Amino acid sequence: MKQTMAAAYLPGNSTTELRTVPVPTPAHGEVLIRMKASTICGSDIRAIYREHLGKGPEGYQGVIAGHEPAGQIVETGPGCRRFKTGDRVIVYHISGCGVCNDCRRGYMISCTSEKYRRAYGWQRDGGMAEYLLAEEKDLILLPDELSYADGAQVACGFGTVYEGLTKIGISGADTVLVTGLGPVGLATAALARKLGAGPIIGIDIIEDRLKLALDLGLCDHVLRSGPENVEQVKGLTSGHGVERAIDCSANPAARATAIRATRKWGRIALIGEGGTVEFNPSPDMIHDQKTIYGSWVTSTWLMEELVEMLVRWNLHPADLITHRFALHNTGQAYALMASGRCGKVAVCFDEELEPAGNTAASATRKIR
Ligand SMILES: NC(=O)c1ccc[n+]([C@@H]2O[C@H](COP(=O)([O-])OP(=O)(O)OC[C@H]3O[C@@H](n4cnc5c(N)ncnc54)[C@H](O)[C@@H]3O)[C@@H](O)[C@H]2O)c1
Ligand SMILES: [Zn+2]
Ligand SMILES: [Zn+2]
Repeated sequence: MKQTMAAAYLPGNSTTELRTVPVPTPAHGEVLIRMKASTICGSDIRAIYREHLGKGPEGYQGVIAGHEPAGQIVETGPGCRRFKTGDRVIVYHISGCGVCNDCRRGYMISCTSEKYRRAYGWQRDGGMAEYLLAEEKDLILLPDELSYADGAQVACGFGTVYEGLTKIGISGADTVLVTGLGPVGLATAALARKLGAGPIIGIDIIEDRLKLALDLGLCDHVLRSGPENVEQVKGLTSGHGVERAIDCSANPAARATAIRATRKWGRIALIGEGGTVEFNPSPDMIHDQKTIYGSWVTSTWLMEELVEMLVRWNLHPADLITHRFALHNTGQAYALMASGRCGKVAVCFDEELEPAGNTAASATRKIR
């Protein structure tokens, strides 16, 4: 076993820093994971990369970056009960105390222990390194049918979306609007499709993302964000609006569109984080009997269910990855994600770095 490893940090000012640090040793109930894929989230850019803006659960404490890790266990500490060396795993990205009410429900995201709640890549070391120390209770087994790059996106991206869609309920009877077609919005369209919904309408401001959503077959219609969006969505849905809308943009105008373009009795999920929204409760919500749900990440049990569904549906989150980078090129990876001119961006290791190579765009096949 190596004594030291390379690890990436985010000092702010849109920079990254590679440091050489000791390889950690797993203590009781912990495992050491050889990292294979570590994807970048919009939250990393918003709350850490550009500036350390995050507070509380989003407060970055100068640790190794990356909260979307997947890899293979190379060492287990004493007292592990289920997982063993050689297991392929996803890490639920927030390690909770394990014994508060939220943790007992599987929602370590909202663990109420100030002392023990620590998110990977925010308050404890994350996946942008050769090895990651994780708690066994945070692990989700990655089935052989899914790659590590598939697995990396399950926790924060696809897991978050699956939770939101489960809350509002999606079926073949629903037309769906997705505002914001970043990786989370694209995952929303992909999962809504597998749950039977359609047509699926997507809105964004970035031309590359509108094109990607069409090229991947995830959206049936895409619209450039603008004041006419509500009328355009109604025009695509026989004048009614959609049954379900999911905001993945966090933009105030796009959120208002999601609310107003939803038809009577419809449901809206807010997933995009931060910012504000303005709407008129009576015409926009009350008189149309509509419901807004907030959704924050997911639970460990729903993540396990999602992994099973991904295999059943032959849905591969890695198909959203347009660019893969080696750890020593982490700076390029964050800069690209910050530009928005991409799908999902991944830092990869070993076999996961191939076949796409360092910077080649790979997302061209339809995801259906
Ligand atoms: N609720 C949760 O648990 C949870 C979990 C993960 C991520 N998030 C949040 O979800 C959001 C999406 O994450 P992501 O990784 O896809 O980030 P992202 O920044 O890549 O995606 C946001 C997208 O919204 C688009 N957008 C901006 N203004 C718009 C407008 N006026 N109309 C339409 N689209 C607009 C952007 O162009 C971008 O494509 C972020 O806010 C992130 O913090 C929430
Ligand atoms: Zn995230
Ligand atoms: Zn807890």
